[in-house]
Amino acid sequence: MKTVFITGTSTGIGEAAVRLFARHGWNVAATMRNPADARFTDLPTVRVYALDVTDEAAVTRAVQQAHQDFGTLDVLVNNAGYGLVGPFESATIAQIQQQFATNMFGVFSVTRAALPILRAQQSGIIINITSVGGRTAFPMNSLYHATKFGLDGFSESLWYELEPFGIRVKVVAPGGVATDFAGRSLQMTANPTDDTNPYAGQVRSVLAAFSSRGGSFSTPEQIAEVIYTAATDGTSQLRYIAGDDAQQLLKTKAEMSEPAFQSMIRQGFGLV
Ligand SMILES: NC(=O)c1ccc[n+]([C@@H]2O[C@H](COP(=O)([O-])OP(=O)(O)OC[C@H]3O[C@@H](n4cnc5c(N)ncnc54)[C@H](OP(=O)(O)O)[C@@H]3O)[C@@H](O)[C@H]2O)c1
Repeated sequence: MKTVFITGTSTGIGEAAVRLFARHGWNVAATMRNPADARFTDLPTVRVYALDVTDEAAVTRAVQQAHQDFGTLDVLVNNAGYGLVGPFESATIAQIQQQFATNMFGVFSVTRAALPILRAQQSGIIINITSVGGRTAFPMNSLYHATKFGLDGFSESLWYELEPFGIRVKVVAPGGVATDFAGRSLQMTANPTDDTNPYAGQVRSVLAAFSSRGGSFSTPEQIAEVIYTAATDGTSQLRYIAGDDAQQLLKTKAEMSEPAFQSMIRQGFGLV
């Protein structure tokens, strides 16, 4: 029986991935900041572990405990993450550090903890959940994009580095997904109703544009299917662009000149 270790499984894509892998008969180490949030009592092959990915010691403990409990570690899904939205200039250093601590350093820590196990067994798959926002950028999301573009490049380089050890690195890049991402998980660098902030108008336009796009969002279950495919398709494919909206956007970007694409994005976000 294979084992998958997933971060950020209290809600959204992580929770859907836990359910899907368990339905396919996998052992699942479902990790989350607050295990009391777990909703997996109906799934006998799932074990829940407390894990805040910004806590390096907790990361090492959780990876080693899960490996000991299940006796194997085949796939790691680095999913935990959140969005920081708003003007860069208004962001506090604490907000910036927390964004990078979670979305990037969290991935580094969990990957570092898992690598000795994967390398010793000469097999394993590391799946990093990035975003379409790791391949193209929207206004008012600079710090989130910095983490996701960073993870995309990190993953592409690591793909080469780990290949000789039988370890595959993959990126699943979703477009919009109907989860808690844009709700309770979202953090803002500025209050959109604070008109003393010179960016307030831009923030309002961008938030309005994002909320009008909900209809084209994927479900977390659809993204979980892509993660499962990445884990089981037996290929060395690096990137999986997940969701029709993400695929369409990247196709459009590839076909347009940069100024034309920027103009389209500006208009789409009401910044004209
Ligand atoms: N939804 C989208 O539109 C979208 C699009 C592209 C990419 N993504 C990416 O998909 C991933 C999952 O997001 P989601 O859409 O499923 O949103 P979500 O429902 O808000 O889930 C995010 C998960 O990450 C966890 N998390 C946050 N900080 C953490 C930390 N320090 N340590 C451990 N876990 C932490 C949250 O835990 P708590 O319950 O403790 O807060 C939650 O379980 C993220 O990496 C996100 O960037 C989402």
